[in-house]
Amino acid sequence: NIETKVDSVLNLMTLEEKVGQMVQYNGSWDLTGPASEKGSKEKEERLKKGLVGSMLNVLSVEATEQAQRLNMENSRIKIPLLFGYDVIHGYKTIFPVPLGETASWDLEAMEESARIAALESAANGINWTFSPMIDISRDARWGRIMEGSGEDTYLTSKVAVAKVKGYQGDDLSDPKTIAATAKHFAGYGLAEGGKDYNAVNIGKNELHNVVLPPFQAAADAGVATFMNAFNTIDGIPATGSESLQREILKGAWDWNGLVVSDWGSITEMIPHGFAKDKMHASEIAVKAGSDIDMEGGAYEAGLQQLVNEGKVDEKLIDDAVRRILRVKFKMGLFEDPYRYSNPELLKSISFEEHSKTARDIARKSIVLLKNQNGLLPIKSSVKSIAVIGPLADDKDTPIGNWRAQGEKNSAVSVVEGLKAAVKDASKITYSKGVSLGEGERSFLMPLKINETDRSGIPDAVANAKNAELVVMVLGEDAFQSGEGRSQANIGLAGLQKELLEKVYAVNKNIVLVLINGRPMEINWSANNIPAIVEAWQLGSESGNAIADVLLGKYNPSGKLPVSFPRAVGQEPLYYNHKNTGRPSNPTHVTYSHYTDIENGALFPFGHGLSYTSFAYAEPQLSSNEMKSGENVTLSLELTNSGKVAGKEVVQLYLRDLVASSSRPVKELKGFEMVQLEPGETKTVQFVIDEKMLSFYTAAGKWEAEEGEFELMVGGNSQDVKSVKLDYKK
Ligand code: IFM
Repeated sequence: NIETKVDSVLNLMTLEEKVGQMVQYNGSWDLTGPASEKGSKEKEERLKKGLVGSMLNVLSVEATEQAQRLNMENSRIKIPLLFGYDVIHGYKTIFPVPLGETASWDLEAMEESARIAALESAANGINWTFSPMIDISRDARWGRIMEGSGEDTYLTSKVAVAKVKGYQGDDLSDPKTIAATAKHFAGYGLAEGGKDYNAVNIGKNELHNVVLPPFQAAADAGVATFMNAFNTIDGIPATGSESLQREILKGAWDWNGLVVSDWGSITEMIPHGFAKDKMHASEIAVKAGSDIDMEGGAYEAGLQQLVNEGKVDEKLIDDAVRRILRVKFKMGLFEDPYRYSNPELLKSISFEEHSKTARDIARKSIVLLKNQNGLLPIKSSVKSIAVIGPLADDKDTPIGNWRAQGEKNSAVSVVEGLKAAVKDASKITYSKGVSLGEGERSFLMPLKINETDRSGIPDAVANAKNAELVVMVLGEDAFQSGEGRSQANIGLAGLQKELLEKVYAVNKNIVLVLINGRPMEINWSANNIPAIVEAWQLGSESGNAIADVLLGKYNPSGKLPVSFPRAVGQEPLYYNHKNTGRPSNPTHVTYSHYTDIENGALFPFGHGLSYTSFAYAEPQLSSNEMKSGENVTLSLELTNSGKVAGKEVVQLYLRDLVASSSRPVKELKGFEMVQLEPGETKTVQFVIDEKMLSFYTAAGKWEAEEGEFELMVGGNSQDVKSVKLDYKK
């Protein structure tokens, strides 16, 4: 059994070697954080002594094998290394950015893209991904909103489980799977003002009801590792939080995997003003339950001495090392440290098959935001289509940020996708109009936006004037969202809005396709442009997927996992807010609102149109009363009332009307994907149980409280039909 094996190895280790297991080094110059003070020679020497337990950013079968050999052939203790990497939305075959993929609400699809990402990673020597990111994020200014599943706790929890299953499969020792990481524990997505790395100021109610459930779902699903977070939460750095890591994760949840710090987050407790030096930071972090120091240099500098001086109990080190060894045993690395160094696996992969899946998932992720007068799908009788905009023929931006080994300029552009899909490609005429991001673009460097070069605008306007229909492709550069990419403005950057308005002045027949990683402020477009398609950064097959939707080869079914604001000043904006004591008042101003803008989202959470329409009948409950231990069933009839087949995501929301703490105006509690032929009706059912009614109460317990509940169903979070349920203990 694994525990006996873990102990037998632990018993052989010196304190120095134990601390070594808790050290993680960056291996290449493909940095995802600030460079360390150590040169590669020094790192190599420590590797040879067995004083490193894992590495990140070591890329390729050859490089990982070489590092593993240095360790295995030279060290006394011969404990295999783990190789981690940020495989966030694909390794080489790139899938939609996670926020976009979540818009598919298709859990099987999300599991499948993770399975493919794991396979491609494993075939390249990687055995550990720092994904999924399951931070709830409600602020579109936060750059990393693209990397998660949006604002809803229930949906994010479902995605968390799907991703863990996809990466890890049923058996971590299968060399086609890799270890997953639930990150960032916890609260990182709720950074104040949406500014990356900023403080998180939430209390227990938000922590337990909003932030923690996806992490618990991942832990229950057997995720091998957790990553803690850069932020403070209620004043305590997450990395130094004993309450989060020891009491909740390793205590109440009884989870036995390993916790890796974020890049340098142990040492960052010094600027946080929480630790006075590296030694102090190490002491706090190890006591709090951070098992591995990612590239921070704190543990290797301080842990051994702390134990020798009696400041840290060696039992804590043993606990951390056990967790690390356990993961390594589960992955079968002790049997064969080179099991991920198999060039044959790479040869066996069909990248063509992976591309087909990427195209299918990409089109499922597209959300039709607006479609006035049935402008979409584009009719085959349309004789000329002007495709305009900086992102129209951009082959790089759809690859998005956190692109792993997704090659530069490797996506299918919209122009390419449309040309390949129409019978007569000459009816497509392309003009860039303006450029967006300028110069060299990379993970760590600031992006320069073009604010001055208007030279392409006249050509674009002339193109639009002569065309029957215009497809404008605008949005965000790949490096406008992602880590360190928070923005105070979330509208169309640079000269894009000017271009759109100039084109609109000569041709109003416009389909706006947005390629972006966050909800954007698009009020003007929503009021003026007849059709708007949210196409996110869809990955390698972006242009083909967009063409499938624009031309009606695929009927869009995506639904927003985040609210789109009317103005950036509404952020953070989320549908599941509290009611306040003054939710509305038609006669005077003293209620909760902004005086210059309507309350609520421009496009709400869960919104997404189809080329058909769906009619919702009134929901019925099997009983309007439910006693403790019982279930009731909610049923409703859904009819495809339009002319083509389509898929609808039926959403179930709930509100606890009076409770021991103020509850959100509604919360997602279930969803069903329903495929219907024109005229067809199906009955959709949801089983309502006590778990669904439960929340983390004012008394600090998960339970359902007696009283009245409102159950709501609909095709988005705003347009719902409701029934009341009385729950008695
Ligand atoms: O995994 C990431 C993390 O999400 C942000 N900081 C760097 C880590 C490793 O690249």
